[in-house]
Amino acid sequence: MQKKPDPCSFIIFGATGDLTHRLVVPALYNLAAGNLLPDKFCVVGIVRKGMSSEQLSDSLMQGLRKFATRPVDEAVAKRLFECVTSVEADPRDPASFDAMNERLDKLEKARGTGGNRLFYLATPPSAFLPISEQLGRTGMLEENGAWRRLIIEKPFGTDLASARALNSALLKLMDEHQIYRIDHYLGKETVQNILVLRFANGMFEPIWNRNHIDHIQITVDEKLGVGHRGSFYDATGALRDMVPNHLFQLLSLVTMEPPARFDAHAVRSEKAEVLSAIQIQSEQEALSNSVRGQYRTGRIGDTEIEDYLKTPDVRPDSSTETYAALKLTIDNWRWAGVPFYLRTGKALTTKRTEIAIKFKQAPFAMFRDTAVDRLSQNYLVISTEPTEGIELQFNTKVRARRSTSTASR
Ligand SMILES: NC(=O)c1ccc[n+]([C@@H]2O[C@H](COP(=O)([O-])OP(=O)(O)OC[C@H]3O[C@@H](n4cnc5c(N)ncnc54)[C@H](OP(=O)(O)O)[C@@H]3O)[C@@H](O)[C@H]2O)c1
Repeated sequence: MQKKPDPCSFIIFGATGDLTHRLVVPALYNLAAGNLLPDKFCVVGIVRKGMSSEQLSDSLMQGLRKFATRPVDEAVAKRLFECVTSVEADPRDPASFDAMNERLDKLEKARGTGGNRLFYLATPPSAFLPISEQLGRTGMLEENGAWRRLIIEKPFGTDLASARALNSALLKLMDEHQIYRIDHYLGKETVQNILVLRFANGMFEPIWNRNHIDHIQITVDEKLGVGHRGSFYDATGALRDMVPNHLFQLLSLVTMEPPARFDAHAVRSEKAEVLSAIQIQSEQEALSNSVRGQYRTGRIGDTEIEDYLKTPDVRPDSSTETYAALKLTIDNWRWAGVPFYLRTGKALTTKRTEIAIKFKQAPFAMFRDTAVDRLSQNYLVISTEPTEGIELQFNTKVRARRSTSTASR
């Protein structure tokens, strides 16, 4: 049986935003429906301008109805939203954080959550540090008998230097064990299943290496264009938006060594190890091993796609990529010489997330000059979109045609 988590307050910065409505609240609902939330629990939504708890609750409920990943049980939803409280705070106004701390103290006493606080930053990245600094200044990150945690959704910095700067600034305010840098992709069932597929089945691990695998393709294609997220997307692009987070998560799960234990620290260390073995390419190599593209006016099925450059809040001369593809190699004994092809983009013909592992050709063409002369190579395809599943493609003999007279008997 799963252990019930400790009592706690779940405090969301950016409670009015898309991430909260689209992903965080449906995830909280799923926990509530699975009876996996603590008995003593409350959700606190931090808002920057006046919004009553009732208004916030209604808005989150609407989000749940729109984005729930399972049928909504009204009784469970009502119980969850009853505990929603809205609190006003803005990192530009330090006094609002002092008031928020007092408010949280009172709520905690009323709800019996024992001072454990989980701060979830569902805000633009520019607010991560100002919010964390205010939390630090007011002592809200100190763990005196109660735990304090901070969750940051991707993106974590825009390049190595800014990620390192954010990391070191956060580590001045709290300990490493308090920080969760998360990617909601990891919650997907098939993504979690990659480790089970690899390490709970004896048949795959012996062939999971350079001796048997020809190459691996990781594809995350989206049908939707940029839509109303022009200003965010134009400053980010397909590479930063998708590759160092979602695609690298998939890459690390497929390529990591088996961890000694299935615990967070051991899994994380093995993932970090394999990521650190990715060969660093020179600028010239990176240019010849990558492709960037930008979508133009067109049509996907019945849907008209407008030129990326005409998207609201996109610069008319923007060179931001909406498609990125790259080839990587991993310098270790398991993967040396195996190419990894990563690609992702928007406004493409299908919505598809898959990892396709192509195995090497059978070593000897025994069926030369027969109907099965040209054998295709085996593929193992792990898909999360549009449907979740695992498929193994292999060759079989084509059934022999029977004569009509025989067939009709
Ligand atoms: N949406 C997704 O599916 C998704 C997926 C993965 C990651 N993310 C990441 O999640 C973060 C939020 O994205 P989003 O799509 O939810 O954006 P959004 O819809 O624009 O919402 C942003 C939220 O942050 C608040 N906010 C804005 N500036 C702030 C500041 N300086 N201080 C405190 N709060 C501030 C906004 O509050 P006001 O109402 O007061 O403006 C709003 O509630 C981004 O880092 C994004 O990259 C989003």
